[in-house]
Amino acid sequence: MVSTRKVLVVYYSETGNTEKMAEFVANGVKEKGIDVTVKKVQDVGARELLDFDGIIIGSPTYYGLPAASIKKLLDDSVKFHGQLESKVGGAFTSAGNIGGGNETTIMAIIQAMLIHGMIIQGTSSGDHYGPVSIGSPDRRAEKLCVSLGKRVADLVIKLKKSSS
Ligand SMILES: Cc1cc2nc3c(=O)[nH]c(=O)nc-3n(C[C@H](O)[C@H](O)[C@H](O)COP(=O)(O)O)c2cc1C
Repeated sequence: MVSTRKVLVVYYSETGNTEKMAEFVANGVKEKGIDVTVKKVQDVGARELLDFDGIIIGSPTYYGLPAASIKKLLDDSVKFHGQLESKVGGAFTSAGNIGGGNETTIMAIIQAMLIHGMIIQGTSSGDHYGPVSIGSPDRRAEKLCVSLGKRVADLVIKLKKSSS
């Protein structure tokens, strides 16, 4: 049976910076030939998370943490606790300042993913935990976002291969 591999990029964005990052992340996934769905968090129910092999979450940094709507999605996902096991995860954020709590925002998302039993790959180059943009993504942030998309897609492909 041929199963389609699918990645969801879900984000919250008030002023468009995280939204731009989401598009760049999705481009990276697409480059690897994987189906990608990009959605605002307001349009995603927790049950939908079950439909994807990879889930990448983006949020602005709000007081060093993800936006409330992202936290709500994570909290709602408790209904499916155990069912996200071994899916691939990733996270990215847009913040106002360098050192403004962006890494803690990414780590908060990743922590929830780890509690779900998801698989997270860091990177030895660039932003280690996930892409950070200060304000609107520049060329550097764009490259890191594309790279995150590729990393998640590659891992989805590898894991699917090893399970089939
Ligand atoms: C309620 C609120 C809290 C924020 N807290 C932080 C913060 O702790 N650190 C930081 O660097 N930027 C902070 N910012 C700035 C946003 O993270 C930044 O403007 C971001 O690029 C917005 O992303 P968006 O365009 O996707 O909405 C905050 C903004 C708001 C509205």
